[in-house]
Amino acid sequence: MAIALPSESTDPAPYRALTRNGNERAVEIIDQRALPHARVTIRLADAGAAAMAIRKMWVRGAPLIGAVGAYGLALALDADASDAALAKAHAVLDSTRPTAVNRRWALDRVRAVVSPLAEDARADAAWREADAIATEDVAINHAIGLHGLELLRDIARRKSGPVQVMTHCNAGALATCGWGTATAPVFLAHREGIPVHVWVSETRPRLQGANLTAWELGQRGVPHTLFVDGASGLLMRRGDVDVVFVGADRVARNGDVCNKIGTYDKALAAADNGVPFYAAVPSPTLDFALAAGDAIPIETREPGEVLGVTGRDDYGQTITVMLTPPGTHAVNYAFDVTPARLVTGLITERGIVRATTEGLAARFPERAA
Ligand code: MRU
Repeated sequence: MAIALPSESTDPAPYRALTRNGNERAVEIIDQRALPHARVTIRLADAGAAAMAIRKMWVRGAPLIGAVGAYGLALALDADASDAALAKAHAVLDSTRPTAVNRRWALDRVRAVVSPLAEDARADAAWREADAIATEDVAINHAIGLHGLELLRDIARRKSGPVQVMTHCNAGALATCGWGTATAPVFLAHREGIPVHVWVSETRPRLQGANLTAWELGQRGVPHTLFVDGASGLLMRRGDVDVVFVGADRVARNGDVCNKIGTYDKALAAADNGVPFYAAVPSPTLDFALAAGDAIPIETREPGEVLGVTGRDDYGQTITVMLTPPGTHAVNYAFDVTPARLVTGLITERGIVRATTEGLAARFPERAA
């Protein structure tokens, strides 16, 4: 990426979900469908490929969807920088997936920058803005990491043994341009020698926890244990969990948190067992236009993702096997909403914020106005 970051906020990970080499007019992504069994890189050199990458979940995770969307608009303007082409590309990229608000935030930001410009200046400006969005994302996540790190240090001071963090889905570096959100405090704590252990929820149906979070923690040497989604309550009731850190796809003005399906269940179990429940929320994920979470559009995906499961067989082939009798009906909600009353706090780049209208407005007055 063209814009340099202060070294301490550079993610030391041996992988990047999204890369732009210098000023190349293309970006490279890790195809997250192939992880953890294969490391496949795909080059995105046109807007159609960028839209496909989001829709088909070659890339996923709210901040990364935003960044790839922004680069998608730059790619579109390289091909045709007219007003009509700009509007069409914005609409196509915006229609990829409905829930993560970072998509719309990033597309609107790039469009606002390029619209006033002459057509022949638009593409360069769009690439610069996309680079800025990607670079800012890394700095934002690092700041979230530092604020969340204070929570882990505090828990570590009060107990012996590793700090037990439960997470859900993948809100890691693979879902962003670096550090991740919910994972950033864990990665920073591990790096400074605080003993941490992560409970990784497998996250049916697409298994972002089993496939991606477990892979990232393994890449960084962080101790972790996988569990089936339904075991959250038991682990908390047994006292095996000190804190829950999850990501977010959209947070309403009142602090309601929308995240991967199953997050609400974890928040209920956490509340019932007195376990602190935090959502890591970069400010582009805040949606002050929505008063409460019930207004957030919840993506429903194809039933096949529920009826079957994909993995690697003994011959190294990635295959999908069916789990149910033929003709079984399935529903596949991809996200749910955790009411603000169940959220201990929102870990933002500006600090930990109460999940209330007043708390968010006080910390982000320019957005709440
Ligand atoms: O369907 P996905 O994999 O895009 O869902 C991702 C999540 O729910 C993440 O927790 C969220 O986007 C935050 S990523 C930092």
